[in-house]
Amino acid sequence: MIRIGLLGAGWHAVNDHAPALRAASGEAEFSGGVALTGVCDADAVKASAVAREFGFGCVFETLEAMLPRVDAIVSVVPPGAMLDVVKTIIRSGRPVLIEKPLGTNLADAALLAQMLDGHPHMVSLNRRFDPAVAIARRWINEQSSPPRAIHGVMTRRDRVERDFIWSTGIHLCDLMCFLVGPLNLIAGNAGCFGAGCVGLLRGTDGLSGTVHIHPSCGRVEEVVDVFGGDWSVHITTGTQRPWNVQCWKGGDIAIGGGMPKPARPSSSAMVPARRPAPSSVPRAAVRRLPPRSPTPCRAPSWPRRFKT
Ligand SMILES: NC(=O)c1ccc[n+]([C@@H]2O[C@H](COP(=O)([O-])OP(=O)(O)OC[C@H]3O[C@@H](n4cnc5c(N)ncnc54)[C@H](O)[C@@H]3O)[C@@H](O)[C@H]2O)c1
Repeated sequence: MIRIGLLGAGWHAVNDHAPALRAASGEAEFSGGVALTGVCDADAVKASAVAREFGFGCVFETLEAMLPRVDAIVSVVPPGAMLDVVKTIIRSGRPVLIEKPLGTNLADAALLAQMLDGHPHMVSLNRRFDPAVAIARRWINEQSSPPRAIHGVMTRRDRVERDFIWSTGIHLCDLMCFLVGPLNLIAGNAGCFGAGCVGLLRGTDGLSGTVHIHPSCGRVEEVVDVFGGDWSVHITTGTQRPWNVQCWKGGDIAIGGGMPKPARPSSSAMVPARRPAPSSVPRAAVRRLPPRSPTPCRAPSWPRRFKT
């Protein structure tokens, strides 16, 4: 039995983490193995409301009080609180899932990465777990030529907060590196909060790329294209829309499919649900289509650097 403590009972905890933890505790795979032991928030009223709504056993006033009673922590506090919280959790030896971004600046991020090195942890960069991304990444690794270019676009409506580029844009940047390896920003426009930004990227082996992040352009979308010697991949991802993937080769879609638009979700009194309840999620339709030409793929000759 793993006793879970949820730290932070704000927007993201209410909409995503607490429902997911409740679902996990009821799933056959974890049945009896996950206990929703406690919630802690600087605001006790929020903590109590989350405990009641999602079935956590206790409310704790402080992280220090919760740690001895749990085996693992899911931490959903704002970036400014992360450094102190992570220090305390590491001292307790408890595994932790933390949110992105790692603190509020690069120095915080470097320090947090150093502190967490060797400590059991996970960072909630969730695009990596999108089925479209998993399918595309596996397929890219099967190709005989390495990726030559990558293009990523994140668009939103009315997201004018100053930290959008690094706080939410990190999802797109992480996803692009996850697909093709490390990317360096070699040119870009700056001082563009609310107005969007464009960056020119360079990776290894001559790979080049571009990234567009437009927080208030009136459309909500996350799209990544990867281009190889004789192939290309198109991914639609993000938490706010169904996923979709197309893997192209020789003028045909070799693998294509995705999740149809979900039915209208049911919502509880407390949670303004953004996502469908599990039972109402339509089944994904992914087809591996036969190539038009019978020519088999050549054995890959480029190094498999990005295997899962
Ligand atoms: N991975 C994703 O897709 C995703 C999506 C949304 C938000 N987030 C991240 O989740 C984090 C929280 O975002 P949010 O929108 O829920 O913020 P929020 O402000 O709504 O909630 C944060 C909660 O943490 C509590 N808190 C702050 N410091 C605390 C401390 N030291 N101890 C206990 N409680 C404390 C606050 O009282 C508040 O209730 C942010 O880092 C954000 O970037 C990630």
